[in-house]
Amino acid sequence: MTYENFHFELNDEGVATVLIDRADESMNTLGVALITELADVVGRLEQDDVKAVVIGSAKRDFLAGADIRMFAGMVTADAVVEGLTAIHAIFDRIEALHTDAGKPVVAAIHGVCLGGGLELALACSSRICSNSTKTQLGQPEVQLGLIPAAGGTQRLPKLIGLAAGLEMIVGGKPVRSFKAKKLGLVDEVTPPEVLLDVARKRALEAIDAEPAERVIALNVSPDNLQKLALEKNPAGRKVLFKKAYEMMMKQSGGHYPAPKRAIEAIRIGAEDGRAAGVAAEIRFFAELVLTPEARALQSIFFANLALKADTGIDSDAEPKEIENVAVLGGGLMGGGIAAVTTFKAEKTVRIKEIDNAGVGRGLAYVNKFVSKQAKRRRMSPFEIDRFLNRVTGSATWEGFTNTDIVIEAVFEDLDLKHSIVKDVEAVVGEDTIFASNTSTLPITAIAKASKRPEQVIGMHYFSPVEKMPLLEVITTDKTADWVTATAVKLGKEQGKTVIVVNDGTGFYTSRLLGPYLNEAAFLLEEGASVEAIDMAMTAWGFPIGPLLLTDEVGIDVGAHVAVILQGAFGDRMKGPDMMAGLLEDDRKGRKNGRGFYLYTDGKRGDVDATVYAPLGLGPRVPVSKKDVTERLYLAFINEAALCLQEGILRSARDGDIGAVFGLGYPPFRGGPFWTVDEMGADVVVAKLEALEARFGDRFTPAAILRDHAKSGEKFRG
Ligand SMILES: NC(=O)c1ccc[n+]([C@@H]2O[C@H](COP(=O)([O-])OP(=O)(O)OC[C@H]3O[C@@H](n4cnc5c(N)ncnc54)[C@H](O)[C@@H]3O)[C@@H](O)[C@H]2O)c1
Repeated sequence: MTYENFHFELNDEGVATVLIDRADESMNTLGVALITELADVVGRLEQDDVKAVVIGSAKRDFLAGADIRMFAGMVTADAVVEGLTAIHAIFDRIEALHTDAGKPVVAAIHGVCLGGGLELALACSSRICSNSTKTQLGQPEVQLGLIPAAGGTQRLPKLIGLAAGLEMIVGGKPVRSFKAKKLGLVDEVTPPEVLLDVARKRALEAIDAEPAERVIALNVSPDNLQKLALEKNPAGRKVLFKKAYEMMMKQSGGHYPAPKRAIEAIRIGAEDGRAAGVAAEIRFFAELVLTPEARALQSIFFANLALKADTGIDSDAEPKEIENVAVLGGGLMGGGIAAVTTFKAEKTVRIKEIDNAGVGRGLAYVNKFVSKQAKRRRMSPFEIDRFLNRVTGSATWEGFTNTDIVIEAVFEDLDLKHSIVKDVEAVVGEDTIFASNTSTLPITAIAKASKRPEQVIGMHYFSPVEKMPLLEVITTDKTADWVTATAVKLGKEQGKTVIVVNDGTGFYTSRLLGPYLNEAAFLLEEGASVEAIDMAMTAWGFPIGPLLLTDEVGIDVGAHVAVILQGAFGDRMKGPDMMAGLLEDDRKGRKNGRGFYLYTDGKRGDVDATVYAPLGLGPRVPVSKKDVTERLYLAFINEAALCLQEGILRSARDGDIGAVFGLGYPPFRGGPFWTVDEMGADVVVAKLEALEARFGDRFTPAAILRDHAKSGEKFRG
């Protein structure tokens, strides 16, 4: 029997091996054709000659989940319910192979096993996964504004317990092999090379075992047993669901309908039984898939996917092969860049600092990061050394001759950057790329000191580098395509989502912060409290408010950037003069424990009520939350539109990704351009014009917004 999307093989002992191999795609995902054919495959497995089953993959990954493009075609909730019911029926038949027909079904998992992929594995009688770091199991649906709806909300908590099930489904974070084993999600972990053999062996062994023994191992630690006991009693369950709900509200601010629905579906299953739970998960999914939040989150998912495939250039210039990377400056940013370059991109890294103490700081940063990862991934001392041996440091220019790319992260000072460019060019080869991690200085200005300006580029990382997903690559008129392609490729290897923007003061991301933070300062000047301003924006969906953000970035850094932006853009970017009072009062924000908020031993407390005096401000007055919110988000959106209009941004898509991944713009709003499309450009322009009438030029709508308002054209299509 041959299939389009599966390989089927039955051995002499009656063990069938089914390998998923989606036709015409490099990744296994559950699309309509594959699901339809899976029903035929299951029909074959139901025949008497099959005694046991192993389900694995013929591709690099097991199964990445549902092909979410499939849902775009389902425009009504009824169509979604119909589609999901069909998937349930197939997964139930896989389950019946072992529960009714007594045939063990072992999922052999290597690589990504997410969403519908994990739900398929959960319908099997046992799961074995490879110990590869590429192996991940999870239910990440909430990240797309959805919930697992092929049985995941029911089978997963049943298998690993309510607490762990809630955590995986509501948090949406996948787990790696050893964590999966600890949770009881998989029964065994093997090297990838023997995965299928072990799975077949276990399937064969389980044929004659009693049903209870068919599950290879229960993996339940005494600690877990205690938790499971708690889950069996209604009062214990109530506590658990309450806690999960509180945690979810804290993490999501209540902006996301999906995690709420996930908890509800799990609760219904736990209280009223599986049939009720299944009906709930299908109903909730059908409702969620049509929400604006799910559409916004999916737009981000697709934009991110598109950027993964984007070389960053229009020509077919080839990126340079990178082996040796030098990082100048081992501070906060340099340390982070060195860490991801060795650990994720697996390159050789040399850190250059002004003295040995600086080198030590940089190396310590890398060490700390690698040790943390090593613990999480259970890496052997040999593997740890493999990473650490690749990083060296020096206070001299020794050992730079074969550097492929230099990334500088020294202090933000144009003269210093100029002297660094010259120093570097004196010691490196002709084709070495010079990348700057400056946050505001135009790359064109930095390149002025270079003999080879076509090899100068911006690589703007965000702090903390190892956590923040964005890299903004900045090109000048002179930057060569091969240089851009190389920076983009390296950024992706470092695990980043990369957008390429054209040079200009503040590029895209730093520039957006100018009007946004200024507006917060104007509101403060007019009498709004720090709490009112920050809470308005967290209520709108930002992770932190603009004044806390100023504390985090550093009030001194903010002031420095403000001067640069004002110099480039004029009075439109000018904030109130009073902010200088903060620096006179030695308030630099979190770094010196003095800012808009109180800090004790590095821990942030409430707003510092004494912050108004150095600003020369009196008692606070009540303000309209709506007014505060609109002024802030519209200042942000209008600047994003100007960046597109001026060609700083290559596309609205990049603008949305930059704002969400770099600046914490609420993902469920899809990014500034997605927000304009959702609200209607005419509505946005009318609001901006009303603000322009009150406050002047700084709210003059970008011409591109007016054009879209007139034509009705959407930014994101
Ligand atoms: N901190 C952020 O959030 C952030 C974000 C994006 C970009 N940046 C930019 O990154 C750069 C570095 O910022 P940071 O926060 O890491 O600063 P930092 O003060 O933590 O580190 C700078 C390091 O550069 C070293 N240094 C100074 N002169 C040097 C020289 N001539 N050769 C070698 N090393 C030298 C210093 O010893 C220091 O360790 C700046 O341009 C900054 O604007 C910072």
